[in-house]
Amino acid sequence: MPATVVVGSQWGDEGKGRLVDMLAADSDMVVRYQGGNNAGHTVWIGEEKFAVHLIPIGILRGKLSLLGAGMVIDLDVLLQEEEELSSRGIEVRGNIRISENAHLILPYHKLIEEQEEKRRGKRAIGTTLRGIGPAYEDKVARRGLRVGDLRDRETLTDRLHDAVDYKNLLLKKIYNARGVDPDRTYHDLVTLHDHFADAVCDTSLLVREALDSGQRVLFEGAHGTLLDIDWGTYPYVTSSNPLSGEVTAGAGIPPKLIDRIIGAAKAYTSRVGAGPFPTAVDEATAEQMREPGGEFGSTTGRARGIGWFDAMVVRKSVRLNGIEELGITHLDVLDQFDQIPVCVGYTCDGKEVPSFPNQVTELDRCEPVYETLPGWKSDTSQAKSFSDLPENARRYVDRIGELAGAPVTYVLVGREREQSIIR
Ligand code: IMP
Repeated sequence: MPATVVVGSQWGDEGKGRLVDMLAADSDMVVRYQGGNNAGHTVWIGEEKFAVHLIPIGILRGKLSLLGAGMVIDLDVLLQEEEELSSRGIEVRGNIRISENAHLILPYHKLIEEQEEKRRGKRAIGTTLRGIGPAYEDKVARRGLRVGDLRDRETLTDRLHDAVDYKNLLLKKIYNARGVDPDRTYHDLVTLHDHFADAVCDTSLLVREALDSGQRVLFEGAHGTLLDIDWGTYPYVTSSNPLSGEVTAGAGIPPKLIDRIIGAAKAYTSRVGAGPFPTAVDEATAEQMREPGGEFGSTTGRARGIGWFDAMVVRKSVRLNGIEELGITHLDVLDQFDQIPVCVGYTCDGKEVPSFPNQVTELDRCEPVYETLPGWKSDTSQAKSFSDLPENARRYVDRIGELAGAPVTYVLVGREREQSIIR
């Protein structure tokens, strides 16, 4: 299976990092195709925690790691990430390639986002404040700057000054905020570009060459399907398409080259930021799960909202992404419960809902319908194979796979690499 995609099937934070890290061991190349440093993919190696936000997590396995065209890149953050990983013995320089077509996140994007979130008040999206939305806005408005634009200094000076003038006007006149210094921005950008210049290229060529020569390429999705700009709980979504379909545009390969699509799903549900969350549990139960699940945002540190497994959500993701197998993560967090509710459907205004609604106003009126499964009340964290799991845990896993519409082929039972079951 040369081209494999791992996508998030909930609201992000499903444990894609752990799954990608595991699959990267048998891959030649790992590619991010969308999003930016709003993502946070974490792996524990023994007692050491590694979290990456921009660089594909395959870097930890020494694999060629590509930042694709569909991404938005803050070069400053990339530099920090490189320095941090290098200082811990991870080879970065020789192993990363950056798409010249990827758009840049610039200082004014972050300032504008901060102001815009403030302006929204109680309708704030609860973004990560990394400048993601404003950078994608500029991309579709065709006024963005791309990594490749940093090569031509003459046109860069012009374009950057023009962009800064416009953004400063917005910041000062509309938001009554401070603007950015164009000369300093220019200087920082070209310094950063010169640092990374060797790694900047047309990454789509590398992906295609790898696939044509039979190498195994892993596409590392970021965020989750329910945060997709088109198919998520709009407007409480991110500004890119985390869906598997975006691999084609974001990495630059045709759809027919994708062989395998794996959906990552938590054994329950979590969500950060604002927006509807039908299966949210009460705060006391959330507290019980937060600590063992490490449910604090790896990008922002925010405590995540927690809910029961929602088959309506994952079923929608299975359909939209073409997920043929699921990797269930965080199963061990459920070890503590006598009984575990699983959402099997919704009713809205007393009527059964056929599929996860696209409109948040409709979703707000939905009531989850639960089926309660017996818990297993024992430690799953040491299980090495599916048959090591208690019978009720096996039943739980199979039932959520059945409800979601895809078999479960991976089960993760802890934060460490060894705590992974391949079925
Ligand atoms: P943005 O992507 O920073 O614009 O944030 C938009 C929404 O997506 C917010 O609710 C964020 O909390 C959420 N979000 C973005 N990236 C992730 C992620 O990787 N995991 C979980 N939530 C995310």
